[in-house]
Amino acid sequence: MGLENPFVPYLATLKSAVELTPDVKLLSVELTDPAIQAGFDYKPGQFAFLSAFGEGEAPFGIVSLPQRKDGLEFAVRLIGTVTRALHELEPGDTLGVRGPFGNHFPLDDYKGKDMVIIGGGIGMAPLRPVINTILDHRNDYGKLLIINGARTPQDLVFAPEFKTWMEAPRTKLELTVDRGDERWSGRVALVPDVVREVSPSPDNAIAITCGPPIMIRFTLTVLRELGFKDPQIVTTLEAKMKCGMGKCARCNVGEKYVCRDGPVFTMEQISQFLEQP
Ligand code: FES
Repeated sequence: MGLENPFVPYLATLKSAVELTPDVKLLSVELTDPAIQAGFDYKPGQFAFLSAFGEGEAPFGIVSLPQRKDGLEFAVRLIGTVTRALHELEPGDTLGVRGPFGNHFPLDDYKGKDMVIIGGGIGMAPLRPVINTILDHRNDYGKLLIINGARTPQDLVFAPEFKTWMEAPRTKLELTVDRGDERWSGRVALVPDVVREVSPSPDNAIAITCGPPIMIRFTLTVLRELGFKDPQIVTTLEAKMKCGMGKCARCNVGEKYVCRDGPVFTMEQISQFLEQP
């Protein structure tokens, strides 16, 4: 469904706010107009702007799945005035939603392949709907390997879902943190080192990685060492965004607009458009 005036947000109500980590909340929102809510279709990887009225708006990946009917969910990390205002909203409060925007992970094209999902910190947000789509259609995909890292155990964003992910058929979840605590008995290692240790096969596989730029950079090196080719490696790009629709030219990377042409790209695509003058 397209917005009538794509600069004017839909009105929405905050249904719930759940603290996922000390600085990340899962906001579940419902558009006020039931017809618009029913027609708000989106795919994993797409994003929307949330507005805290009086403070401004900011883009967030949509972390829910339309078919699960849990409402629209966003994992919002506290980083500035807009996110602070969003964190302070109470259930029942009104906010604005503008979207959905951007391209999406072409999950239909990945059917029959082994999937390697590598996320760090809040970078797990766009990966959550990817993982849950694969789990909802488990027989359509090969093995699923999830490598999820965070600074500390408390910063593992989707911890409440780990049990479900771990128990899914042909699925392996590898967790790691930069710094453990007295209750953490798991890995203390950097994500790229875990990727090297686990060493997923590139044969008939797709690797999707999202997280801090430094993590992505070293993870890419390891994936290439393991034999993954750039068309098999998928990531999301971040950029400052204003309009979300390819109109304001704020978010260009090379000749592409992240908001309209992305945020999902293969490494092959990124190498091509960054090479252009
Ligand atoms: S945010 Fe305006 S062109 Fe991308």
